[in-house]
Amino acid sequence: MLNDLFAQRVNPDVPSALSGLFPQDTDPRAISFAAGSPNESLFPVAAMQTAFDTAIAQTGAHLFQYQTAQGNPDLRAKLAARIGKWGQVATTADNVVLTVGGQQAIELVAKALLNVGDEVAVEVPTYVGALAAFDLYQPTYHAVPLQADGLDLDRLEETLKRHPRIKLLYTVPDYHNPTGITMSVAKRRELVALANRYDFIILEDSPYRDLGYEHAPLPAIKSFDTEGRVVFVSSLSKILMPGLRTGWLVADGDLLAAIMRVRLASDLETGNVVHAAIDAYLDANDLDAHIAALKTSYREQCAAMVHALAAYFPDDISYTQPAGGFFYWVTLPKEIDAAALLENTVIPQAHVSYVPGTNFYPDRDVHNSLRLCFTGLTPAVIDAGMHRLGDAVKGAVRGVKPVV
Ligand SMILES: Cc1ncc(COP(=O)(O)O)c(C=O)c1O
Repeated sequence: MLNDLFAQRVNPDVPSALSGLFPQDTDPRAISFAAGSPNESLFPVAAMQTAFDTAIAQTGAHLFQYQTAQGNPDLRAKLAARIGKWGQVATTADNVVLTVGGQQAIELVAKALLNVGDEVAVEVPTYVGALAAFDLYQPTYHAVPLQADGLDLDRLEETLKRHPRIKLLYTVPDYHNPTGITMSVAKRRELVALANRYDFIILEDSPYRDLGYEHAPLPAIKSFDTEGRVVFVSSLSKILMPGLRTGWLVADGDLLAAIMRVRLASDLETGNVVHAAIDAYLDANDLDAHIAALKTSYREQCAAMVHALAAYFPDDISYTQPAGGFFYWVTLPKEIDAAALLENTVIPQAHVSYVPGTNFYPDRDVHNSLRLCFTGLTPAVIDAGMHRLGDAVKGAVRGVKPVV
């Protein structure tokens, strides 16, 4: 069997956290709340096309030459300035590394830190793509629950006392995927203090931080870092376009050097032509004005979804109250398996889809929750889809409730 030749990390018996995530429904009535994609009708395509022309005209053939392993210095300087302004992280272009989306940044950090069996703490639920990246290094996971204001730090500290070898903690502090939860500023400060005390590294993954519908971005966890223990990761996927495949990380000292070492082995460097075009785009356009326009649209869609959750869903469920980002997280009565409900009832009868929550847990041991994304649909379509979904959930709840 050819499969016997594969590395354990691609063992086909162990499904990747990312496989089969997005259910397909070809019915013309289908409404999908599944994929966490930005709304492509808001993509600045013409401005980006001009920026590509400008970048190529300015630099010519040399633009297509090998450049630097960290990536376009002008773009890195702009990103360093942005996280200084909006996240209070005092850093420079020298500490920024451009990556193939935030996803590669996560994978590079995993590659730089994790040996097989190493201990990693993750908030639960958590971003499936991070689990997929960590899974390649076969770590031992410790799941720490989330609260309405972010990671439960008491539970984290208990876990750290019991497992002092935990070397990495992964968190999405801003408008978290999949729950929409944001970590309070006090917890950000306290988390760094815990990292200093218990000697671990924090991977702060924050692609949604600019998309707050109620307040300006909070200081990054990295802004409280005094020992170079926090790697900050972000991305242009949600605020510009994911097809640019441009993410970035901020790291310091030996940790930065270790990440650069594994990056060279992975891909030498990222797409210079794209990065020069993004740099030209940022010279000619106001990114914050573009983000403000995105927020105007997403805020309305977010409001339509919470309105529908209140109007059409039974009292027996609970849901998060995101102040930004792309997602709502719905918890059903514990007797209901959200994956089975999707497959048996919601897709075939209501023609609506969502992502069942199980894949967002490293042990795949929670089955009664689901993620809803609102970004791709108009408020009217959100309302129609949520009405159908709410009716299906009501039916499922009736089915498991004791008859009194
Ligand atoms: C929390 C989080 N991190 C990272 C990513 C990776 O995105 P990209 O590689 O497009 O930057 C995503 C995408 O959905 C995400 O939600």
